[in-house]
Amino acid sequence: IDELLSEGVAGKRVFVRADLNVPLDGTAITDDGRIRAVVPTVKALADAGARVVVASHLGRPKGAPDPAFSLAPAATRLGELLGADVAFATDTVGESASATVAGLADGEVAVVENLRFNAGETSKDDAERGAFADQLAALADVYVGDGFGAVHRRHASVFDLPARLPHYAGYLIATEVGVLRKLTDDVKRPYVVALGGAKVSDKLAVIDQLLGKADRILIGGGMAYTFLKAKGYEVGSSLLQEDQIPAVQEYLERAEKSGVELVLPVDTLVAGAFPDMKAKAPGNPETVAADAMPAGKMGLDIGPETRKLYASKLADAATVFWNGPMGVFEHPDYAEGTKAVAQALLDSPGFTVVGGGDSAAAVRTLGFDEQAFGHISTGGGASLEYLEGKTLPGLAALED
Ligand code: 3PG
Repeated sequence: IDELLSEGVAGKRVFVRADLNVPLDGTAITDDGRIRAVVPTVKALADAGARVVVASHLGRPKGAPDPAFSLAPAATRLGELLGADVAFATDTVGESASATVAGLADGEVAVVENLRFNAGETSKDDAERGAFADQLAALADVYVGDGFGAVHRRHASVFDLPARLPHYAGYLIATEVGVLRKLTDDVKRPYVVALGGAKVSDKLAVIDQLLGKADRILIGGGMAYTFLKAKGYEVGSSLLQEDQIPAVQEYLERAEKSGVELVLPVDTLVAGAFPDMKAKAPGNPETVAADAMPAGKMGLDIGPETRKLYASKLADAATVFWNGPMGVFEHPDYAEGTKAVAQALLDSPGFTVVGGGDSAAAVRTLGFDEQAFGHISTGGGASLEYLEGKTLPGLAALED
């Protein structure tokens, strides 16, 4: 983007593909981290006199307008953060978008409605995606890719559109790639990875890569119960992905052979039912050993001994990557495991990277100072796929 700015952008229509996919409670944004992350790029362009058109997806609407997924709240928030009026187009490439973009003066910013209200955005059909990319291209003279959270998606606005316009990487993408490179090239050791979240199937590919890279991998969250079951323990009514057990067993064996420490919870908090998130009624959890989980109870967080164990495994790390909460942190009874890992990252002398929408949101909503972490990535799936060594369509499209 510095190259673009030095060439001069005054009067040019610049399309910024951002990731404004923020968590919403109705129309209230519960974590605006992703919007704040794109402000430097939008501000630099607007200050240089560009007519900035910001576009993003939000959620997973089904290729047609759906008010529950409107970007209007994100547009309002972007305006507050910029301290400027931001125009909002009620469609993405229709009359409202054309008129809104045509009405921009130099230095003004508009947001167009959710890209995924258009079937062409996510289509698997190249021609359908291409046709939508043509419509998007008509809105702009230049493309800036800055939606790091979406670079792993081969979508029209991420992959096809940059091929149709002069294209540049924004500040956020440049920062994210710079940081994640430190985890893939010449990583400083000990390199400790904490992985949580609900589904082990989402993490298999990254675990596969990390078994050859990391010194220790700490497992928590809902996915830990598939690991415990693979070790032969009973896990009551906990979240379990039976079909993943063979793969997990293979990883446990590989870790043992390769000397990578794959560390599982030694105790867990259990309750009879998933907590009521809205009422925040007490969950009344019990702490049980990981090898003695009672039938009919589900594990909802790592236990106190595991918190201590994981903190000790993180204490001497030179590099840490953390993705995925350790428990159902949105409920106060099950937030301690996630808090303990966040605190251990803060206490660690090493370079700490928090990756993933949920863990980044956890850090912020649990009251931690995000500036104290080495880096909080805006990418969940994107940062994992980067670490898996995959070619990411949204980065490849900017590389030439
Ligand atoms: C994310 O939340 O990880 C990104 O915004 C991508 O969203 P998606 O998984 O719906 O493509």
